[in-house]
Amino acid sequence: MNVQAIDLESLVDQMTLREKVSLLSGEDFWSLPAIERLGIGKLRVTDGPNGARGSGSLVGGAKSAAFPVGIAIGASFDPELAREIGAAIAEEVKSKGAHVSLAPTVNIHRSVTNGRNFECYSEDPELTAALAVGYIEGLQSRNVASTIKHFAGNESEIERTTMSSQIDERTLREVYLRPFEDAVKKAGVWSVMSSYNRLNGTYASENGWLLTDVLRKDWGFDGVVMSDWFGTHSAAPSVNAGLNLEMPGPARTRGERLIEAVETGEVSQETLRTRVLDVLRLMHRTGSLSDRGPFVERSEDRPAHRALIRRAGAEAAVLLKNNGVLPLTPSSAKIAVIGPNAKIARIMGGGSAQLNPHYAISPWQALVDRLSESRLSYAEGCTNHRWEPVWKGDIRAEFFANKTLSGEPVHVDMLREANTFWIPPVADGRVDSDNFSARLTGTFTPEHTGRHRLGIHSAGLSKMFVDGKLVADAWNGWTRGHTFFEEGCDEVVGEIELESGRTYSIVIEFARQDGAALHLSALRAGIGRPLGDADIEAAAEAARNAETAIVFVGRSGEWDTEGSDLQGITLPGRQDDLIAAVAAANPHTVVVLQTGGPVEMPWADRVAAILQAWYPGQEAGNAIADVLFGDAEPGGRLPQTFPRSWRDNPTFSQDPEHYPGLDGKVRYREGVFIGYRHYEKLGIEPLYPFGHGLSYTTFEMGALEVTRAEHGATARVSVANTGERAGSTVVQIYAGDDEASIPRPVRELKHFAKVRLAPGESRKLTFDLPLRAFAFFDVTERLWRLEDGSFTISAGFSATDIRAEASINMPASTLDVTFR
Ligand code: BGC
Repeated sequence: MNVQAIDLESLVDQMTLREKVSLLSGEDFWSLPAIERLGIGKLRVTDGPNGARGSGSLVGGAKSAAFPVGIAIGASFDPELAREIGAAIAEEVKSKGAHVSLAPTVNIHRSVTNGRNFECYSEDPELTAALAVGYIEGLQSRNVASTIKHFAGNESEIERTTMSSQIDERTLREVYLRPFEDAVKKAGVWSVMSSYNRLNGTYASENGWLLTDVLRKDWGFDGVVMSDWFGTHSAAPSVNAGLNLEMPGPARTRGERLIEAVETGEVSQETLRTRVLDVLRLMHRTGSLSDRGPFVERSEDRPAHRALIRRAGAEAAVLLKNNGVLPLTPSSAKIAVIGPNAKIARIMGGGSAQLNPHYAISPWQALVDRLSESRLSYAEGCTNHRWEPVWKGDIRAEFFANKTLSGEPVHVDMLREANTFWIPPVADGRVDSDNFSARLTGTFTPEHTGRHRLGIHSAGLSKMFVDGKLVADAWNGWTRGHTFFEEGCDEVVGEIELESGRTYSIVIEFARQDGAALHLSALRAGIGRPLGDADIEAAAEAARNAETAIVFVGRSGEWDTEGSDLQGITLPGRQDDLIAAVAAANPHTVVVLQTGGPVEMPWADRVAAILQAWYPGQEAGNAIADVLFGDAEPGGRLPQTFPRSWRDNPTFSQDPEHYPGLDGKVRYREGVFIGYRHYEKLGIEPLYPFGHGLSYTTFEMGALEVTRAEHGATARVSVANTGERAGSTVVQIYAGDDEASIPRPVRELKHFAKVRLAPGESRKLTFDLPLRAFAFFDVTERLWRLEDGSFTISAGFSATDIRAEASINMPASTLDVTFR
């Protein structure tokens, strides 16, 4: 079929009612049905945003390249880098036989505790929008569709499939909708995913105001809206509201019900036709209309992707503090490598963004490769896990076609770890995914004698035995907790004394549970040994005997994960104690943090340097080492304010209505005052402000000049590298209305540029500030209003490090919501 010449209108008119309806629901988890009669191929989707997982489940599956997570891209302040990453991920999507990437995630960091903040770019809509546009353009330049998500108001994981986000229209338009608006108007995004939550009472997937009035009429979207997985709740209302696609398949709310709704006139033929046309258009754009396979998933470990990921990791790393200890010099002195994140590569967050990476470089491995082991000493010091370390080994999994582990197994699999995620088809399709049980058997040989902890949690019922003795029971009294997308229980832990070197038999029994909403079954089991004071002392001792101590701390994808919010922002476990002890033992202590957002740092004044490295993908250790040794600049700047304490954040409140929500509603009462807008308004000094990040060289800014222009205004400022090394900085341009008639933030980011300069080099930068940069959303008239009068434009290196200011008088004007 010649895709260029294809007439989609006549194609849709050749389709029967049943065929049309078939294209409005998935066929399975990741694809739409083909229609062979009409030569219509198969559209396949795959998760993002930090790669392309393919059709495997969250654990295992074909290997893929793991790119930096969203907040790391946010920290790069570099839309060009986002574009390169988008284009590279497009190749990954193709290697997985798919046409559509379920990315980027552009919800805004309203709180510091949202479990998915790691996946999102920033607390700021301008930065988020600019990065999203780059990423989408990169993807779509290779004919892979972007599905920007989650539209809209999905800023927390608490009761995420039912919660109503109560957000006023001004706040929506100025903050939460803004990245989606630019994605449509500037990047021409081909697909949007509606969020799980309700928005002001109505499910996003059937919210006509959101999906039709705003998205299509105001912004001119002509692509496909698909629901988040299992987030479609109706046939006619969702179709009428503007939702094209129910995902995943097979159809649950549509199919026969939608056929009936069309026959009774509840959904008009015209509406049905329009929704199907959008799907055909997406298929046409991505080439899937003519894709008749064969469907193959390839793992392509490309050197170019390795290099891009390594560079991006350094571009995202934020040097929060440095008293001169960094960059490290490659002398022969000893380095103590300490902490729970030193030998484990923390490369990504948890949930649907997980993938099976080609490889994962830990900081330890990168340092060994660079320096040789003789220069290093190591101490773990303490743990930081949320769940006991996963039990690994040769694990035999037997599946039974009933919920009682009765009779002969109908299928046997071998697993490498007790971390499984069973989505249909389970056991190669030999059991009904709603009616099965499984027994996992293997062994465990401890390295240490003493008390061990066995932890298990599951979406489904489970129990864990050691040598026939029940140790952890998540079967009797199972209650829903905050794991596995809120379908699993919290970890149940049992303790047992074990002897080193002895081999114990481990058995886990699992049974599918009735009435699970997401239709998933999952299990994770681990075995760990608690660490104590002696381990912290051993770490301090290692630090004392070294010239420099590097402490690798933070969280992991167990904490920064889809499906649950954090319960606070102190470092998990005894990591604060560990850092304090190491810092007391060695004045040259460098802390490398890996988290998906801010943490409290009671030790910040006592350490020599702090580097925030996020979850930077498969090259994690190499990217971190490149920055530590100065082979690369710490290119990142904070995309989210780091407050001194959780209490300072706008969502920390005594009032649960405000966060985490009450009676099924979470009220965004702070309005547009989130992130730095909030700290500025209340005069709270953050630990590290939005936009902050040090370089290994120094920069200065010249005077700021702002002049009126036809499109709005133009700001000009020069920046110079006044140090001895080449380096990069981010020049940030903020605007504030001096005489606003409504409460407006003192300053809001309106433009930025990442600049790389040689020593002594300076550059004059020009920033266009369109009229929209000065306007607020007028809810009465439903338009963008610019009030006449004076505005302060500021140029700086962070939201609080303002180096130059200028005033400009702007005349009143209004802009229509359709204005591009
Ligand atoms: C997530 C989406 C994801 C989808 C498919 C959902 O749980 O919210 O972001 O794309 O699953 O895995």
